[in-house]
Amino acid sequence: MPIHKFLGDALTFEIGKLYREGLPPAEGPWSGIPEFSFVGGNNDEANVPVAGLSEAATRVLQRAGRKLAVYNLGGSPLGHEDLRNFVCNKLGIRAETNVEPDQVLVTSGSLQALDLVNDLLLSPGDNVIVEEATYGGMLSRLKRLGVVVHGVRLDEHGVCPDHLRELLEQCTNAGAPAKYLYTIPTVQNPTGSCMPRERRHEILEIMGDHETAIFEDDCYADLLWGCPRPPTLWELDESETRVIYCGSFSKSIAPALRVGYLVADSSVLQQILSLKIDAGSGALEQMVVAEYAASHFDDHAEQLTSVLHRKAQVMAEAVRQYFGDSVEFEMPQGGIFMWLVFADDVDTAVFANKAAGSGIEFNAGAGWSVDPQWGANKMRLCFGNPTEEVIEEGVRRLSEIMDLP
Ligand SMILES: Cc1ncc(COP(=O)(O)O)c(C=O)c1O
Repeated sequence: MPIHKFLGDALTFEIGKLYREGLPPAEGPWSGIPEFSFVGGNNDEANVPVAGLSEAATRVLQRAGRKLAVYNLGGSPLGHEDLRNFVCNKLGIRAETNVEPDQVLVTSGSLQALDLVNDLLLSPGDNVIVEEATYGGMLSRLKRLGVVVHGVRLDEHGVCPDHLRELLEQCTNAGAPAKYLYTIPTVQNPTGSCMPRERRHEILEIMGDHETAIFEDDCYADLLWGCPRPPTLWELDESETRVIYCGSFSKSIAPALRVGYLVADSSVLQQILSLKIDAGSGALEQMVVAEYAASHFDDHAEQLTSVLHRKAQVMAEAVRQYFGDSVEFEMPQGGIFMWLVFADDVDTAVFANKAAGSGIEFNAGAGWSVDPQWGANKMRLCFGNPTEEVIEEGVRRLSEIMDLP
């Protein structure tokens, strides 16, 4: 008997029948990065500090490589001590506040930080407040978690205090205070605004009347050119426990490293550790980042920021030249993206397929907005990775495809 006949049923086994209920749709096969890619928080290739990272890797491996034999390098599950000390110094110097290493947890990118904080605080049906336009990766997470998402209005300085007060009161009066306000106050994603110090004080004061935490995402704060770096909400918070703060080396060094961090009261981090059951984030990248950053971080971030600033200018010029009056935008204060607003009757998602056919990818505004209809006439364009030439040509081609009056 042929072996496949003998095996019979085993050959017709379908694993798909065993998948659990409620999975998101499967991803299509990866088709590569298109020629004009304006999506994703990618970085400038020429400014990945390859020489510095490889020197750091060699040095740290020779000195301490054998520690890789033990989970967490034989140290605290909060992460590599040198890296946590670096984060303390970085925040301490800037914030003029003492941060202790037991207030820092290293995560596998700040996305893991988002997951951990959500796991700590959220149950289905909970209220949360996020900026009306916000990081798509957070919106998709909140949707999966089945929480009720309230979008707080934004102006050129970030979260609008009056609307925040209204939403907080609405939730509190309904007996379900919002679990947190998730905010990206410095280089807001996607608008690129930076919340001034006075607005930060105002937001904290309003929050003081409610049993609602602040989740501050500060991953772009090292790439600021439009204004001096303001103090973080975490630093300004007098309660010292309301704010959970996260940062990342994705934007300042390289996203594929997957090194981010959470900063919070040590008791909060000890509770979060009960949820971080991954046996530790990758130790080699933590060692290399700590070794590199100790002597090069500030110079590198300054250089990268000037390159990104130039790219932002190139993109802004191209948008003005090719889209003219059909679009409005604010110059970003830093970071890697621009937020374009078209006339009310434009739906940017409609152009996505046609643009993809010409090798152009962008984020339609709906995916970056609490209310997809409100976001429909908007678009996020990232300029971190494409070269100046690609930015110019890609924007030109996109304007031809959209062909707006
Ligand atoms: C606001 C914000 N938070 C978090 C992330 C996740 O970054 P990572 O996991 O690479 O640190 C991103 C990435 O684009 C982001 O824009």
